[in-house]
Amino acid sequence: MERFFCPNCKGFYSLQPARWRCDCGSFLDLEFESKFPIEKILKRSPTLWRYREAIPIHGDQSILSMNEGFTPLEETEFNGYRVLLKIDYLFPTGSYKDRGATVLISKMKEWGVRMVVEDSSGNAGSAIAAYCAKAGIECEIYVPEYTSPGKLVQIQAYGATLKKVKGSRERTAEKAMKAASKIPYASHCWNPFFLHGTKTFAFEVWEQMDWKTPDTLVLPIGHGTLFLGAYIGFKELKEAGMIRRIPKMVGIQSASCAPLHQAFKEGWRETRPIEKKETIAEGIAIAEPVRGRQILEVIRETGGEILVVAEKEIKEALKEMGRKGHFIEPTSAAAIAGLKKYLRKKRRKETVVSTLTGMGLKSAGKVL
Ligand SMILES: Cc1ncc(COP(=O)(O)O)c(C=O)c1O
Ligand SMILES: [Zn+2]
Repeated sequence: MERFFCPNCKGFYSLQPARWRCDCGSFLDLEFESKFPIEKILKRSPTLWRYREAIPIHGDQSILSMNEGFTPLEETEFNGYRVLLKIDYLFPTGSYKDRGATVLISKMKEWGVRMVVEDSSGNAGSAIAAYCAKAGIECEIYVPEYTSPGKLVQIQAYGATLKKVKGSRERTAEKAMKAASKIPYASHCWNPFFLHGTKTFAFEVWEQMDWKTPDTLVLPIGHGTLFLGAYIGFKELKEAGMIRRIPKMVGIQSASCAPLHQAFKEGWRETRPIEKKETIAEGIAIAEPVRGRQILEVIRETGGEILVVAEKEIKEALKEMGRKGHFIEPTSAAAIAGLKKYLRKKRRKETVVSTLTGMGLKSAGKVL
């Protein structure tokens, strides 16, 4: 039976839409057993829903899909090093967040929810708004006032109620949490169903690499929803006996906002308050990652690390990707800047997978 599980106090809760954290204050995980019937998977269309037995939605009638996922895994080169890039800006809303939104909002629909609230730096809000539109679920999206106009327009285009909040990303989250006392919280950071969507990143990489595991994943981290999702995906594959090991997980943060880098370097179990500076990588400007403790555990367990990138390096990576035919947003370029840093110390035969998480048009003003 599926249920919420608290990794902090080890408590359990039955699944229900109003529950978004444990009574002890911690975030919750989901207990769920995934299965991978390869013959069936191969017969299905190339979307992330082909891993149907690994996605915690009961009835097919609850699935809200725009045929998303199974994004290309493109081979490219940086300074002579071969890498594989998952082209995740090719989702319906232009970012990888649709992986989480398609599953979380399908669950909200299955629960019969009529309205949700979410807070975001823009992309998760766009994704939640799009899938809510498809479901006929009303939604309120809280974003910081400084969010790129492209994302603000997009959220409203889907018919969501946009709530712009003065001040920091953290203040935006506080406002949404207050609203979440009355309205179900479709939070990409708190709600584990979102991670059970982003985990499909791992399944696709596994299949696209002929059912093999890469040595290393290099992924951006703000709240870490792709990072943790990818880890959960590979962990489930290992537990199901499909693979033997989980890749080394390397996270990338902006040097202007790097609470996890600091905690990892100092050997802390949790992040501590930092002084955040302005960064062009708005999507990873997260000073207080909800699942910080969990991210640090994953990095230590997999022998990974966290690298930080300077604003100048992000801008260079953005331009370089443009020359390769990929117009990505600065947040997405931060991961590539970090990937290039990581490649300088890579072993010769190491297979490295990274990703392009967000489309450039969303932040065209910033890029300009
Ligand atoms: C384009 C893009 N890439 C990466 C991230 C980082 O995602 P997370 O905060 O889940 O780590 C975000 C988050 O908003 C994003 O918009
Ligand atoms: Zn607890």
